[in-house]
Amino acid sequence: MSTFSKANFKTLNYNSFRPHYPASFYKILGDYASQKSGIKKAVDLGCGTGVATYPLLNFSDQVIGVDLSPKMVETANSLVNDRCETMGISDKSRIHFVAGSVESLAYDNSSNKDEKIFGNGDLDLITAAQCIHWFQDYPTFFQSIAKSLKPGGTLAYWYYIDSIVVDYKGSNLDSASIKTAKLEKSWQIVSKYLYDDPNFAGPHWEQPGRGILRDHLRKVDEAIPKDLFTDIKKNKFISDISDPEKTFPSVENGDLKIVMKDLPLSAIKDYHSTASGIHNYKEAHGDKAIDIPSQILKDWESELGWGEDTTVDYVFHSGYTFMRKK
Ligand SMILES: C[S@@+](CC[C@H](N)C(=O)[O-])C[C@H]1O[C@@H](n2cnc3c(N)ncnc32)[C@H](O)[C@@H]1O
Repeated sequence: MSTFSKANFKTLNYNSFRPHYPASFYKILGDYASQKSGIKKAVDLGCGTGVATYPLLNFSDQVIGVDLSPKMVETANSLVNDRCETMGISDKSRIHFVAGSVESLAYDNSSNKDEKIFGNGDLDLITAAQCIHWFQDYPTFFQSIAKSLKPGGTLAYWYYIDSIVVDYKGSNLDSASIKTAKLEKSWQIVSKYLYDDPNFAGPHWEQPGRGILRDHLRKVDEAIPKDLFTDIKKNKFISDISDPEKTFPSVENGDLKIVMKDLPLSAIKDYHSTASGIHNYKEAHGDKAIDIPSQILKDWESELGWGEDTTVDYVFHSGYTFMRKK
């Protein structure tokens, strides 16, 4: 996965415009991971700018973030002071970030000379947020992770995909049936530019990663070796416009729900501006590229009447898998 490593990829935008995961989810993760013992050392794979890495400090003494992209790691390291201060953490040496691919650092840990993070069997928790779909060779991945974890240690991976508008407010009051039709149309417009029309971002997503993600990581889940891992806990959340109860189930049921409420349309534009498929489309088409995030808003305005006074609620399809090393 190379898009996030490109010099022109805006890593700070990534940090600001991508969803951060709800505190309720980290409570579920922390409870699961600390069930067998305390968590001393955690590693966050594909950490990017550290979105999922910092919250691990709430239940782990030491946290290391690892990412393929030196640029992501540079941004992550530049945020350490601010993030630790915001979290009230005085000992900043509790967290650091290291550049390198999971394959080079964890699969082949003999070449990991400077800092041997993997393969010592001393890790209590390994996480992979929104990145496992990019990793190579899942059988080797699981074998390597099992060697790095303590017995009873946790591997947790999670993902989100596609921001789906599930409600909107504006100056015009639409009837319930018109509302449902407009919500469905709003997704069709996004889908056209992101996936369906080959003239736009569709062919520019790196594969097989995007396909694995859109299939809710089924390929990864199917590769879990049951002789190495136990207590497998899976939870998938599919946003459903026609059934708001399914979309906003009660907070207690344990889903990883990423819900954004009452946001201006520009928030969706900002989110789409971080999409690797859109980034690659722009690079491929140069001056001829249209600005897909802006075009989606223009189509929403012309086809749905949504404009500056419209605010939206949106959610992502999402899910997680936890397991314990035997
Ligand atoms: C979509 S970002 C997710 C960042 C962060 N974990 C989050 O939840 O927002 C995916 C990250 O995975 C990293 N990545 C992709 N393949 C990788 C690999 N094989 N080894 C390490 N990092 C990888 C990318 O560089 C990128 O920063």
